[in-house]
Amino acid sequence: MKTTPIITTTLLHATHALAIVHPGLLHTNDDFDRIRNNVNSGTEPYLTGWNKLAARANSDYTPRAAEVVCRGASWCDPENYSDLYRDAAAAYANAIYWKVTGETANGDAAAAILDAWSSMLTTVTGSSDKFLASGLYGYQMANAAEVLRDYDGWAGLDSMINMMQSVFLPMNSDFLVNHNGAGPDHYWANWDLCNIASLHAIGVLSDNQTAIDEAIDYFLNGSGMGALNNAIWTIFEEDGTGKPLGQIQEAGRDQGHSLLDIALLGVVAQQSYNQGNDLFAVDDNRILAGAEYVFKYNTGNDVPYTPYSNSEYSQPVISSGSRGGIRPIAELLLAHYSGVKGLDAGWTGKYRDMTVDAGDGAEGGGGDYGSSSGGYDQLGFGTVLYRLD
Ligand SMILES: *[C@@H]1O[C@H](CO)[C@@H](O)[C@H](O)[C@H]1NC(C)=O
Ligand SMILES: *[C@@H]1O[C@H](CO)[C@@H](O)[C@H](O)[C@H]1NC(C)=O
Ligand SMILES: *[C@@H]1O[C@H](CO)[C@@H](O)[C@H](O)[C@H]1NC(C)=O
Repeated sequence: MKTTPIITTTLLHATHALAIVHPGLLHTNDDFDRIRNNVNSGTEPYLTGWNKLAARANSDYTPRAAEVVCRGASWCDPENYSDLYRDAAAAYANAIYWKVTGETANGDAAAAILDAWSSMLTTVTGSSDKFLASGLYGYQMANAAEVLRDYDGWAGLDSMINMMQSVFLPMNSDFLVNHNGAGPDHYWANWDLCNIASLHAIGVLSDNQTAIDEAIDYFLNGSGMGALNNAIWTIFEEDGTGKPLGQIQEAGRDQGHSLLDIALLGVVAQQSYNQGNDLFAVDDNRILAGAEYVFKYNTGNDVPYTPYSNSEYSQPVISSGSRGGIRPIAELLLAHYSGVKGLDAGWTGKYRDMTVDAGDGAEGGGGDYGSSSGGYDQLGFGTVLYRLD
């Protein structure tokens, strides 16, 4: 079980001098102790989950760093953002492999990937999609670096911090303030959420409390669709149980993006929790209500729906587009809400089981869910990394 002390939001804001915990994004040293014990004892399903991660922790991996990364525009020449998400996934898997086993070949591989990018990357560009790249790959690269930061074979932490601060953080912060020049309801929730996750992650990586606070304040009270009460905007009582189900902002759009919202809500909450700020609990566990809604629908059950419209879109019914898609995102949420808090997260458990069955016994990660960007939006490997029971 978690031993991280929990400090409420109110208290945290009153005590800015609190030290930033390292490693303290998706995983802490306590988590790594638990993971190491599970792996070393060969216990299932952790071992199966570990083997999935190990298969992606290739110490011979060759990074494909670039000066400029381009996403989404016809003028990208080439549209090379896939190099960044593949490298981020490889850096993360190698960093974790090193952290759990002490294997220096994997520590060196993670270091080589991060060093290649920190010494080259100056610009993330493209269509408006560049702000998806800044958010998604920003939080992923920061997480890889945060896991590796104590490796004494790595001299590149400062360069990595500099690159993340100069390339990603300004885009994250700018997007949350200006939304690429559009109104606050133009971009769907996942655009805000990935930039919140990245801003927070870079804040922790670089000991920048201002960035951490900016991310959390926006999540709690921001104007855009990723702010908690806009992302999960209507609460229903479930028939029969009375449990809250929270309609996600993208429910009428399609289920791939609805699942991505839940993935990113999990990332934001987990990263914050590991810094002593329990966003999982805010507004009566609102993230759980949203997860239960999305997972109930995506495991083949009906959910209530309130017609959604904003200044640009009108969606009278829930969308069944890409319903039931598999993303490795539920172990994190189930471990927290059921494992740590003892709450009923039944639909999250059903979706977790569906994902684990599809993965022959465990969640996989980047590379296990196809080669397109959606397969890399989340870092995954939740069975070995988060599961508690
Ligand atoms: C990546 O794409 C950008 C913009 O299209 C281009 O300027 C850059 O040279 C590309 N880099 C590599 C390594 O292909
Ligand atoms: C710390 O974060 C704030 C808020 O986003 C930002 O304005 C500032 O430039 C960051 N500091 C560094 C050194 O990047
Ligand atoms: C900020 O958000 C929190 C969490 O949703 C809410 O409880 C609080 O009332 C909000 N504060 C303001 C000033 O809107």
